[in-house]
Amino acid sequence: MKILGIETSCDETAAAVVQDGRKVLSNTIATSKDIFEKQGGVIPEIAARKQVECMISVIEKTLTAANVDTEDIDAIAVTKGPGLLGSLLVGTTTARVLAATWNKPLIGVHHTLGHLSSIWLQANTEPQFPLLALSVSGGHTELWYRTAYTEGKLLGTTLDDAAGEAFDKGAAMLGLSYPGGPAIEKFAEGGQIEAIEFPLPLKKEDNVNFSFSGLKTFLKNLLKDSTHAPLSDIAASYQHAICRHLMDRIERAVKQFPDVREIHIVGGVSANTHLRQLLQEYISGLAVKRTLRWPVTNAYCTDNAAMIASAGFYLLQEKPEEAVKEFETQASGVIF
Ligand code: KG4
Ligand code: ZN
Repeated sequence: MKILGIETSCDETAAAVVQDGRKVLSNTIATSKDIFEKQGGVIPEIAARKQVECMISVIEKTLTAANVDTEDIDAIAVTKGPGLLGSLLVGTTTARVLAATWNKPLIGVHHTLGHLSSIWLQANTEPQFPLLALSVSGGHTELWYRTAYTEGKLLGTTLDDAAGEAFDKGAAMLGLSYPGGPAIEKFAEGGQIEAIEFPLPLKKEDNVNFSFSGLKTFLKNLLKDSTHAPLSDIAASYQHAICRHLMDRIERAVKQFPDVREIHIVGGVSANTHLRQLLQEYISGLAVKRTLRWPVTNAYCTDNAAMIASAGFYLLQEKPEEAVKEFETQASGVIF
C-alpha cells in the first residue's frame, strides 16, 4: 500500500510517498528556514504564504521521485494538527481537494503520532511493545508508554517550554542562529560539559514531567555576569543540562515501567549527538537490555511527510474506520 503524506505544521512544506508504512519511496521538503534564521523564529503569516506557493510543486516532485502516478496512490495522509493554523490549513486543504479529485481515502494524522512513527521509516526489524518513546521537538516534549503502533499512554509532558525551544532560546541568548539545536550542538563541540553546573529540573517531584524555564533563567543570569566562562563551555554545559534532564525522566520512567522492551527518541532534538551518547551509556549499563532506536536519518527526526504517511498506514491497519473519519484542522488536539 502506497500512501502520499503531506505535512505543513510549521515552516516546512513536505510531501512523501511511503510503502507499507516503512519503505520511503520519496521524501521531499521545501523550507523557508533561511528567511527565519535572521528573525530568530518563525513568522506564521510568512510561513503560510510560502507554503501556498510551493505546496503543489512539492507534491509533484515527490510523486516523480517515487516514480508513481496518482493511480498508484492508495490513500492520502495529512497532518491535521497541532501546529500553526494557517500552515496546517494549506496542507489539509490541499489534501482534501486531492482526495476528492483522485477519489482516495483521506487520513488526518496528529503531528506527534507522526514523530512517534518516524522510527518505522526504513526500519527492518519488528518493534517489541510495550516501549518507551520520548518525543522532543520545538513544539512539544512528551514521554509515551506505547502498546501498539497507534496506541499509547502519555506519561509526562512539559510544564513550560519544549526541549527544542530551550535550545532555540538558549542559542538566541548566546548569539547563535535559529534553529538553535544544531547551532548549540556545533558550538558546544569545543566546550567542556562540566564547566558549569546547571540545576536538574523537577528533581524532587515524583513524576516524569519536564521543565526548561529554570535552565533558561540560569543561563540568562550566567550571561549577565561579565566574568563568565568561555561561551563554548557555557553552550556545552547548557546542552548537557537539557540532555541530563531528558535522561533523568527516561531513567525514572524505566524504573516505573520495567516491562518496556525498547526506548525510542524522536523529533528534532533526537538528532542531538550528545543526547544519543548519554542514552547509549545508560542502555549499556542496564541489567535488563533494551533496544535503543532513533530515526535512521536526521531528515526523519525533524519535521517531514514520510512520518505522516507511515502513521497513516498504521492507522488504516489498526483503526480502519476511525482513520478515514472526517477531521478538523486544529492548532491543538488529542493524539489517540
Ligand atoms: O521536530 P521539529 O523539526 O519541529 C517541531 O515539530 O517542532 O523540531 C525542531 C526543533 C528545533 O527547536 C531545533 O532547535 C531542534 O528541533 N533541533 C535540535 C537539533 N536539530 C534540531 N536540537 C538539538 N540538537 C539538534 N541536533
Ligand atoms: Zn515536529
